[in-house]
Amino acid sequence: MKIYQKSWTEGIAESINGCSSIFILADSNLPVSYIDEVIDACGKSVPVFSHLLLGGEGLKTLDQAESIYQTLNEVGADRRTLFICLGGGTMTDLGGYVASTFKRGVKLVLLPTTLLAMVDAAIGGKNGVNLKTPQGLLKNQIGTFYLPDFVGLNVDWLESLPGRELKSGWAEMIKHALINGDMTFLERVLKCDKEDLHKLIPESAQIKANIVNQDPLETGIRASLNLGHTVAHALESVCEDLRHGEAVAYGLAFTLYASNHRTECIDPILNGIEKTLELPEVDEIWGVMVKDKKNTSGNVTDVMYNGNDIDVNFIWNKNEFTKKWDDFRKKHS
Ligand SMILES: NC(=O)c1ccc[n+]([C@@H]2O[C@H](COP(=O)([O-])OP(=O)(O)OC[C@H]3O[C@@H](n4cnc5c(N)ncnc54)[C@H](O)[C@@H]3O)[C@@H](O)[C@H]2O)c1
Ligand SMILES: [Zn+2]
Repeated sequence: MKIYQKSWTEGIAESINGCSSIFILADSNLPVSYIDEVIDACGKSVPVFSHLLLGGEGLKTLDQAESIYQTLNEVGADRRTLFICLGGGTMTDLGGYVASTFKRGVKLVLLPTTLLAMVDAAIGGKNGVNLKTPQGLLKNQIGTFYLPDFVGLNVDWLESLPGRELKSGWAEMIKHALINGDMTFLERVLKCDKEDLHKLIPESAQIKANIVNQDPLETGIRASLNLGHTVAHALESVCEDLRHGEAVAYGLAFTLYASNHRTECIDPILNGIEKTLELPEVDEIWGVMVKDKKNTSGNVTDVMYNGNDIDVNFIWNKNEFTKKWDDFRKKHS
């Protein structure tokens, strides 16, 4: 599977073949000109409907999914409707889920507009929404594996993206470089050169796609993509106002630190967040991690970085984790 080989407009033109109508789900935070560009790219051969929702984690609910099914029904969408999703990872996760379930699945095109979605969320066919429970929100508990017909890239759409969101995506690119073990690529990523993004994005997305191809349903090696994410998910549930990629940056820095590797590569992302964030004490973060259902006997399974190799079955016991976490926390407070 080669990622981002064709231009996004060409890809849309091909995906339209055989469709009865087009439904565009787009983030209302985007400049209107982006949505107009996509409508233009759809041409006039079939009816085009657009539906705007505000992007962000709050979007990923079954209620929102239902409201989109209802709109699809109102506009007369059928099994040959092409579903296009324009937005960040929350939009591609929700839209992908709706497209995979409406009438048991309609053709899907993803047009990611955040760096994080371009290199990660829109790649690999996973989608989903969060589940509301009396204990709080459980992330990505409802979802499917559903490959889009096409994923399109337009780096110009990043121009309006706030700096904080850009850094967030950068963290996932660093993760891909670490997993891939390609130090030249890591060095290029670390330069944070915006001019290089049009090359870095396809390369980073391709690293993920190659891993997904080997293990589409995550029974083994795909778990390596969770590098840094055990700590990241716990931080996300404990700390308010933390972006996913920011939590990943901390998760990666901790993983590198815990495996005695240099952590400087993450500093440019952590600088800036550190002024406002206080890392939680060990009991708080451990308490969240240990609840994950893949863990047994009070230990925590994690993905560990070993230089050239990623161990997807690393086990922490609380004592060892506490030592590392306390030191790491001191270093970052
Ligand atoms: N399915 C997967 O494999 C996968 C992988 C990684 C992450 N994810 C999911 O992705 C989500 C995070 O994605 P995200 O960081 O893109 O978040 P997001 O969709 O919330 O976008 C971040 C913010 O930027 C705004 N925005 C988006 N594009 C913009 C643009 N071009 N200009 C201006 N504003 C813009 C959005 O409205 C939002 O406020 C999480 O829910 C995570 O679970 C999924
Ligand atoms: Zn992630």
